[in-house]
Amino acid sequence: MTRILVVCLGNICRSPTAEAVLAAKIRACGLDKRLSVDSAGTAAWHTGKSPDSRSQAAGKSRGYDLSGLRARAVIPADFDAFDYILAMDKNNLAHLDSMKPAHFSGHLGLFLAPLQAGLEVPDPYHGDATGFETVLDLIEAASDRWLTNWRQ
Ligand code: 4NP
Repeated sequence: MTRILVVCLGNICRSPTAEAVLAAKIRACGLDKRLSVDSAGTAAWHTGKSPDSRSQAAGKSRGYDLSGLRARAVIPADFDAFDYILAMDKNNLAHLDSMKPAHFSGHLGLFLAPLQAGLEVPDPYHGDATGFETVLDLIEAASDRWLTNWRQ
């Protein structure tokens, strides 16, 4: 099993969206026995909360159900439990890099790297509805690229 953790700041907008999109695409490819996905935040502010209602609505309009997800913070043990830890932006990546134990042998990088090196998923939290559509556009495109890599 290849285990994937997607990470943003609050774990209520970008990373639960990425979790739901990846999970749906993994199921659609019939790869659920080989790939698993979870999400977390570098901040613990929203622990236990459902995804932001705007993320839920934007996801639902494209067929993704985020309603059962609950926010949690990244913990040190995640570096033992996951093979890929993928950050939504460079701040999250720097935070994860500072937590990374020396023995971590997995891949830590940006979620959008398969689209373009250094590209970030913009934080939609303080913006309007268009930001949530941009998040989905970027995440759907990068998820397809990751799936192409992982199914080899
Ligand atoms: P996320 O978005 O990192 O994509 O979940 C945010 C959610 C909450 C906050 C910031 C970003 N916040 O400041 O509470």
